[in-house]
Amino acid sequence: MNPRDVGGRGLPVHARTLVLAIESSCDETAAAVVEGGRRIRSSIVATQADLHAQFGGVVPEIASRAHVESINGVIARALAGAGVELAAIDAVAAAHGPGLAGALLVGVSAAKALALATGRPYIGVHHHEAHMYAALIEDPTLEPPCLHLIVSGGHTLLIAMDDHGRYRRLGGTVDDAAGEAFDKVARLLGLGYPGGPVIDRLAAEGDPDAVRFTRPMLGSGHLGSGHLGSGQYDFSFSGLKTAVVQHRRRHPDQAVADVAASFQAAVVDVLATKLLRAALDTGIETIVIGGGVAANSALRSRVAADAARAGLRSVIPARALCTDNAAMVGAAGWHRLRNDGPTGLAGGATPNLALPGT
Ligand code: KG4
Ligand code: ZN
Repeated sequence: MNPRDVGGRGLPVHARTLVLAIESSCDETAAAVVEGGRRIRSSIVATQADLHAQFGGVVPEIASRAHVESINGVIARALAGAGVELAAIDAVAAAHGPGLAGALLVGVSAAKALALATGRPYIGVHHHEAHMYAALIEDPTLEPPCLHLIVSGGHTLLIAMDDHGRYRRLGGTVDDAAGEAFDKVARLLGLGYPGGPVIDRLAAEGDPDAVRFTRPMLGSGHLGSGHLGSGQYDFSFSGLKTAVVQHRRRHPDQAVADVAASFQAAVVDVLATKLLRAALDTGIETIVIGGGVAANSALRSRVAADAARAGLRSVIPARALCTDNAAMVGAAGWHRLRNDGPTGLAGGATPNLALPGT
């Protein structure tokens, strides 16, 4: 065996190593088989969005139950889709945090049970690390250093990935996450749940310049204004949400598409501006987006255009790799196994898990 194919704790980890990965941190039950940390052999996502829609958001108890009901079938479909038996799997990974405790436990327990039954290593993967690794599936030539904007229903983060498993958190939201803002504004506009995809679709028919909404914290810090961590890469979306509510009250007859497009333009402006600024400040030449909000059409085209103009490389994963999925967990799990070895079956699920290395 090539000595370079020996991973953490002496385990063989190489380009043919198959990881069965599970994701259940929120309202998607997902399983995937990933080969060599980059190649998707199968990826199955069972969404619970319909179950939660009537409540306008994810109900943790309902999420846990739905995960329990569907996880075995989702795993079976992932194995069948990859054309492999369980015995051919080399390692089993699961997102073990952050996320909803009961939801996470379903995926972690399933992964540990399969690892125990097959005698294969178990790898606990940080959900945000998984979102970052989605880009390494999208672009198999991508290697750190790269700068990640992770924008989801629960988080808004700017993270420098200096190397595999080595991260620096540059900024995050001080209140609502970007996806949360989309979801709340969609609810206020009577558009249903989840709000991001609906606003994205509706905004395409609206005028993004119809209302000039506030760009929260856009001016907080600027090029060379201070050291990393002084707040210049932080975000705030709660005030923007309030601005949309107030505007709606004052102008009830304005086309909803125009309000949606203008709100989306404000969010995208802040996210993209700070991502670009962080890249220029840190000198990192590759910018990447991930998480559910990275599926947003306006954000995708803006980041690509900003990067092209600034001479940076941008990696924008396919939409299915941005929203929660297990392929990204398999990619991150393969790299973790290679660099650090397995997690061990004593590892649990941690709702507020810190990103390793930060
Ligand atoms: O990463 P994700 O699937 O789950 C979490 O880890 O939270 O992100 C879900 C979030 C939701 O808030 C959803 O409204 C948002 O991503 N989202 C979008 C779009 N698609 C999903 N936001 C804006 N535009 C979209 N196209
Ligand atoms: Zn996520």
